[in-house]
Amino acid sequence: MGTIRIENHEIPFREGDNILKTALAAGMEIPYFCYHTALGSLGACRLCAVEITPKDPGKAPQVVMACLEPARGGIEVSISSAAAQQVRQKVIEFLMTNHPHDCPVCDEGGECHLQEMTVACGPPYRRYRGRKRTFTNQYLGPLVHHEMNRCITCYRCTRFYQDYALGDDLGAMRLRNEVYFGRFQDGPLASPFAGNLVEICPTGVFTDAVFRQHFARVWDLKTAPSICPHCSIGCNTLPGARDGMLRRVRNRFHPDLNRWFICDRGRYGHQYSEHPARPLTSRVDGAKVSYRQALAAAAEQIKAVGDKTGGLGSVREDLEGNTLLRALLNGFNGIFTAFSDPRLEAATITAVTALQNTTGAPSLAEMEQADAALIVGDLTAHAPMIDLALRQAYRSGARLAVLHSGPTPLARFAATALAIPPHEMSVCLSHLSERAAAPSAANSNQKEMLANIVVSLTASHRPLLIGVTETLSASQIAVLAQLAAALGPGARLAYALPGANAYGAALLSQTGRATAMLEAIETGHIQNLIVAGNDPLGDTRLGARWRAARQRLDSLIVLDCVATATAEAADILIPVAAWAERSGTFVNYEGRAQGFTHTFRRPEFLPSTAEVIADLARHLELVLPDIAAALGDTFPGYQAPVPGAPGSPLPAPAIPMHIDTTIHQGCESHPGRWQAALSTWYGDDPLASFAPALTELVPAVAALISPAAALNEGIKAGERVRLQGPAGTVVLPVQPDNDVAAGTIALTRAVLAQLGAGHGDPLELEKVS
Ligand code: SF4
Ligand code: SF4
Ligand code: FES
Repeated sequence: MGTIRIENHEIPFREGDNILKTALAAGMEIPYFCYHTALGSLGACRLCAVEITPKDPGKAPQVVMACLEPARGGIEVSISSAAAQQVRQKVIEFLMTNHPHDCPVCDEGGECHLQEMTVACGPPYRRYRGRKRTFTNQYLGPLVHHEMNRCITCYRCTRFYQDYALGDDLGAMRLRNEVYFGRFQDGPLASPFAGNLVEICPTGVFTDAVFRQHFARVWDLKTAPSICPHCSIGCNTLPGARDGMLRRVRNRFHPDLNRWFICDRGRYGHQYSEHPARPLTSRVDGAKVSYRQALAAAAEQIKAVGDKTGGLGSVREDLEGNTLLRALLNGFNGIFTAFSDPRLEAATITAVTALQNTTGAPSLAEMEQADAALIVGDLTAHAPMIDLALRQAYRSGARLAVLHSGPTPLARFAATALAIPPHEMSVCLSHLSERAAAPSAANSNQKEMLANIVVSLTASHRPLLIGVTETLSASQIAVLAQLAAALGPGARLAYALPGANAYGAALLSQTGRATAMLEAIETGHIQNLIVAGNDPLGDTRLGARWRAARQRLDSLIVLDCVATATAEAADILIPVAAWAERSGTFVNYEGRAQGFTHTFRRPEFLPSTAEVIADLARHLELVLPDIAAALGDTFPGYQAPVPGAPGSPLPAPAIPMHIDTTIHQGCESHPGRWQAALSTWYGDDPLASFAPALTELVPAVAALISPAAALNEGIKAGERVRLQGPAGTVVLPVQPDNDVAAGTIALTRAVLAQLGAGHGDPLELEKVS
């Protein structure tokens, strides 16, 4: 590391860094537009002009672009020299010749980089009196609004969209001062990371179309550090609210996780908290009551049956809510679990156990450094920012291998992408794990591809293995862990878990509890059920069984902030605060506990789940530890994470690995000719599915099957088939898709719920004449 003189200060620099990066790291300000830490330098805007003076007296000072000039010793850099200032002023004046005079009504106002730089560097008046160049804007879908006249041609948008996120439906078109940034034709942006354009564009070309619907000036927004509630990654976010309403969500920098970006589910999924169907008033037997009356009714029910009460937490409920619900249940020896599906319970607990036996899951920043990765399942839908991290690894030359049963966008970048029916996944993973001869179930093509994956992983220095918990069985998850172990200490293992707090929920649950709870309800041993943030009646696979079991309950008490099927069926419904309206903790896929604090309070009285349970305990005259004590009892040494801080590992006692072989694992058995595969999309989580802007992008519902299967069955694209599952029948058009495995029908979560089938369950298919 050497030093460079900038504005008469000796500044250390790292070899290879440019002057701009060096100055910014030292807290010095050099104006710039097109440079971005994640995207690097381009030299498009010419705003970062500085004057450098070589020590050698024979060499004249010169103006250079700070983002293109390597930092080196022996030069003086002046940001404030007259020559540099003049260049910057002319650049701004030139950029502003075509920029519209619409600052007072521009959505970017208050956070516009162009406006700030114009005030900082530009002339205070406009000399140009000619016609401005104008463009026609495009409709880019429900998430991003387009206003091309404001463009300053910095190319940040295409460098992010195409080069960084590897999208291909937005680009730069035309020439000279007619360069146009948009799509080939109007239509929704296809990238699941498109919303980042809103933050990456330094002017108001791309703005938040959802925020526009309830726009507020940025200085009027109330913000607080938060954590995204939509998947297990735990991206750091900054929700903004005004007048008791959540208006938008922006990225908040976390050095190991999301850094500069978030996915569209995280940016736009917040609409669920403003959904018109959201429960905001307590109800008892359908009648609106006060919070106190609802609590009294719930306490009365619980007192009447005592220990015949069960508690169902959730992977999306915060650590505080789950922990206190479990403590309440412990108070009268009731059953607690956070999972309504035994398969998911077993798979998630196994994944957490497997991670506890390793050095821990890598951060997203570490994933970007992988030189080979094996991905099992569809990461784009289940953990979008892992997908984005792997796109960076791919850009750096990593060899990706994807094993999937249905469509997955990452297959496009994979050196090996293998579509495998769910029931064959075990045999393929075992083969990889043993690195032995191909099993008989693998066909010759599969054998060769699996062998390639083994070679690639074995030869790599930083191999990474990632499985999607929701579409793997507990034993498949364990086999993936064995494969990681077989690859040696350098191999890293991670799982996309099924919710923002799935890791924490798994540590509070126990394999087999979901089955025990369901059976106890069916046999009358549980007569009261308290559900916090879960939707067992809407469960994909077991919804019908849960709905039947619900009839046996004396009382269903639901604490939730969305109108799920379970909330609709509740005898006692107590609405709770959504994540941006409460403080709490989520434990992400790494086991990192991250605190979030409430951004705002709604006008309605909406306590957090933990607060409701504490109030309920008081009504029951139960002595419940306060939340800090309950967490300390459960996780010895627990310190509540500070909101806004990077979080720290949850101190959890190690759980011994135990795979319950009595749990029916759909993806391992295959009695039928066809089997279901969960083909979800990035907005299809229980919360984001209440976000209209995201649901507008849901693909048309169809039965996706492989083209070969369609040919075999004599079914053409668009022809209809009748699907029969354990709990129902649906008729859907067929859509052939190359990414679907043989004998597999890829279906959305909603269709699977109608059929009562989970990933890997057998289905019947019949052509409708
Ligand atoms: S649209 Fe925005 S990000 Fe893209 S080139 Fe124009 S100003 Fe830059
Ligand atoms: S990856 Fe997950 S946690 Fe991150 S922004 Fe997207 S949905 Fe939220
Ligand atoms: S930031 Fe250096 S040319 Fe744009």
